[in-house]
Amino acid sequence: MVGRIRSEIEASGPMPFDRFMELTLYGPDGYFRSNILRSQRDGDFLTSPEVSSSFGTVLANAVIAERERVGVPFTVAEIGAGSGSLLQPLVEALEPPPDRVIAVEVSPAARRSLMKRLPLADVVESLHEIAGGVTGVILANELLDNLPAALVVRRGPTWRERAVDVSAGELVWVEVEARTEAARWAEAYGGRVPEGGQVEVQGEAGRWLLASLDRLFSGAVIVIDYGDTAEGLEHRRLEGTLRTYRDHHLGPDPLSEPGLTDVTMDVNFTALASVAAEHGAVTELWRQDEYLAKWRLLEHIAELKSREHQAAAAGTTMERLRWRNLVTGAEALLHPRGLGDFRVLVARE
Ligand SMILES: C[S@@+](CC[C@H](N)C(=O)[O-])C[C@H]1O[C@@H](n2cnc3c(N)ncnc32)[C@H](O)[C@@H]1O
Repeated sequence: MVGRIRSEIEASGPMPFDRFMELTLYGPDGYFRSNILRSQRDGDFLTSPEVSSSFGTVLANAVIAERERVGVPFTVAEIGAGSGSLLQPLVEALEPPPDRVIAVEVSPAARRSLMKRLPLADVVESLHEIAGGVTGVILANELLDNLPAALVVRRGPTWRERAVDVSAGELVWVEVEARTEAARWAEAYGGRVPEGGQVEVQGEAGRWLLASLDRLFSGAVIVIDYGDTAEGLEHRRLEGTLRTYRDHHLGPDPLSEPGLTDVTMDVNFTALASVAAEHGAVTELWRQDEYLAKWRLLEHIAELKSREHQAAAAGTTMERLRWRNLVTGAEALLHPRGLGDFRVLVARE
């Protein structure tokens, strides 16, 4: 991995960070291409559906409403579907079942898990394998925070770009003249940035959203992730939001062990919403706790609690503990400083 990066830098000069992310996460020996399933308890991070199957069960209510709006034949697609922990309970809660289920995953380990959990789904490697004209819902949970982004830094009236170079055989950060597109993106969506502050330029996330909307004849793209509006991210600009994760903890500098850590950032939902609006979609932006409450997570938790009380009254301890765990997991989805603080963008066509 480091050899590949080094030779590309030696041939073409300092590497923009979006290219570095593309190689370290998606390259032949990249983080997502390995045989390890990343989104689970013994992986590097835990996502909402890995914390609680209630996430998929409750999102099914949003999908049912969308099906009532746009009609059939109806497709449910998840991009970056991981182990299937969102899609499986969601599809199981749909009555009648959707006409087509598609799971898109770059990771071979995740594709194996998806084929096992969702034997009737089409499991494919890239969004581009989905033909256009879909009526339905395209979902992405914690996908866009990993899409390659450039980094620019405010220097006086201009922007400089953070890139990766080689010095004494080691990968090092350097600042180079910012590419025009990157500077333009930062001006448009960076919000107020102090001197030396950093903006993650998420052009690829915008292109992903456009590619998804292009595939939709009618229905919705639902993007869920950590992040905020441009304004909401302003207080993070001095440090920037780029970080790595390993074993459920913050990891080292992204240059120190390329290919071995998750590289991620907060999603700029102002940029996404404006890309969707320019495409002609109608958008809504929610906090995850409010969005799940709208789709009846609180009623679902009340039901789980009543099952727990019934098990307690019947004296079945293991059963009571099982319901208690389900309640705890479902409540975690609403934690105001945790998963509940995620954002949900709904873009309808
Ligand atoms: C953080 S995990 C989330 C998994 C799942 N959505 C969940 O919520 O548990 C991100 C997943 O997206 C996959 N992934 C990343 N980039 C992708 C891309 N461009 N296309 C399809 N899958 C991608 C990764 O392999 C990984 O399984």
